[in-house]
Amino acid sequence: MTHAAEHLRQQLNGLAPTVAVVLGSGLGGLIDEVENAIRIPYADLDGFPPSGVSGHAGAVVAGTFAGQPVLFLAGRAHYYEQGDAAAMRPALETLAALGVTHLFLTNAAGSLHPDMPPGSVMMISDHINFSGLNPLIGEPTDRRFVGLTAAYNREMCDRLRSAADAVQVELHHGIYMWFSGPSFETPAEIRMARTLGADAIGMSTVPEVILARFLGLEVAACSVITNLAAGLSQAELSHGETKDVAPLGGAKLASILRHLFATGGFSAPAA
Ligand code: HPA
Repeated sequence: MTHAAEHLRQQLNGLAPTVAVVLGSGLGGLIDEVENAIRIPYADLDGFPPSGVSGHAGAVVAGTFAGQPVLFLAGRAHYYEQGDAAAMRPALETLAALGVTHLFLTNAAGSLHPDMPPGSVMMISDHINFSGLNPLIGEPTDRRFVGLTAAYNREMCDRLRSAADAVQVELHHGIYMWFSGPSFETPAEIRMARTLGADAIGMSTVPEVILARFLGLEVAACSVITNLAAGLSQAELSHGETKDVAPLGGAKLASILRHLFATGGFSAPAA
C-alpha cells in the first residue's frame, strides 16, 4: 500500500467507502452534507493534485452521505494545469487500493443544444477524446490497452436515471467531448464538435474515466451545464460564469444523488 493509501486508511478510521465522487467546479457544496466528515487536504496525500484551479477545494472528504459511506474528492487536477494527462492517476490508484469500486465523476460543461440550457444536468453516455492525449501513454504493461466499449457503467447510469425520475429532475444524456483547454473553444470548433456528434464540451473527466477503467473501477459521470458553447450565444465565455452557474445544475445533481444514496447507492446489489 502506498504512503497516501496507508495515511488515508488510518484517517478513515474503519470507514470503508466503496463509492467515490469527484466534485467539479461549483459542486463542492455537497461536502457540507457529509455527516461525521473526515477531511484530509490533498497536501497531506502524496501524489494527490496540488489545488490550483479557483473553485476547487483540494481535499478528500469522507463520511456518511444520505446514509451511505462515501468518499468525495473535492477538486481535481486538469491536463491544462501542468500538461499531465495522468495527473489524477495517483489519487485514483489510492482509491482503488482502499477498496473503492465505483467512481462517479462530475464536471461543468458547455452545451451544444439550446434545449439543454445552463442549469441542466447531462448524464454522460459516452465520450469523444478530442485532445489527442491519453493518461496511459508511457504505461509499460499490456494493461494499457484498455477497452472503452462500455466505459460508462450501465447499472450506475440506470440508478442515476431512476433517482432523477424519483425526484423529478430532468436528466439529459449525451456525448461529452474533451478539449484540453484552458482556452475555451472557437465557434468553428463547436460547429465541428456538433458535426462529430458531441452534445457537451469540457476540459476534464475523460482522462479520469480512462484511468478508472484501467484500474478496474466502474464509472459513471454527469455534467452540469454552465453555458451554451462558443458561438451558440453572443456572450463571451469565462471561468467566472462557470463558477457562478454551476451551482444551479449542481443543486439538481445533488438532489439526484441524495435520493440515489438514500436508496442504496451505486454499488448496492440491484433491487
Ligand atoms: N467549454 C469547455 N469547458 C467548459 C465549458 C465550455 O464551454 N463550460 C464549462 N466548462
